[in-house]
Amino acid sequence: MGERLPIVVLVSGGGTNLQALIEGAAADLPVTIRAVISNRPGVFALERAQRAGIHTELLDHTQFADREAYDAALVALIDRFEPALVVLAGFMRILTPGFVNHYSGRMINIHPSLLPRHRGLHTHQRAIEAGDSEHGATVHFVTPELDSGPLILQARVPVLPGDDADTLAARVLTQEHQIYPQAVRWFAEGRLQLVAGVAQLDGAPIQIGAPDAAPLAQR
Ligand code: GAR
Repeated sequence: MGERLPIVVLVSGGGTNLQALIEGAAADLPVTIRAVISNRPGVFALERAQRAGIHTELLDHTQFADREAYDAALVALIDRFEPALVVLAGFMRILTPGFVNHYSGRMINIHPSLLPRHRGLHTHQRAIEAGDSEHGATVHFVTPELDSGPLILQARVPVLPGDDADTLAARVLTQEHQIYPQAVRWFAEGRLQLVAGVAQLDGAPIQIGAPDAAPLAQR
């Protein structure tokens, strides 16, 4: 494999998306996870990283006076590892504009809905309550507005009769584990860029949901 892209992964919870990246990197995903940083102590994501021999850091948000102070400390911590890409993988924090702008074009997030539908929390329950027939997950570049920013990749799943938030979340998560490593791969290969606020793949604007958008497998 050629040069590997150095990344830092931010987590707050179980870390199944982190696990997909760890397994990808152990296979042929050309990244090195330099550190996994959690804002919450004791989360399973930290254990997953430790088991894989990856450096971990805890930066507990409850120890900071305000959001600005926390995000400034987080920038300082992340930048010690000099990542080319910051990957938010279930990092459940609202980010300050200063933090987001510092990583403009080099920070991505995965959100468990078909953005722009269902920003914020409890997306699976809300999709069911809205009577959506389709739901899914979205990878996007991070911009200051919550769960917003240029879309990179989406996976769609059906909402089935009898689904509850847990069954639907599980169906979405298996798709997240496909699309997040794929988006990271595109970035690592230099194919994915944010140019003047537009997400581009191979130099062409990414158009999610466009009728002529090729399925993932054909790209
Ligand atoms: C994932 O479903 C991810 O999309 C979501 O948190 C979960 C983390 O799972 N992220 C957000 O809601 C961000 N707004 P994981 O810890 O098992 O990867």
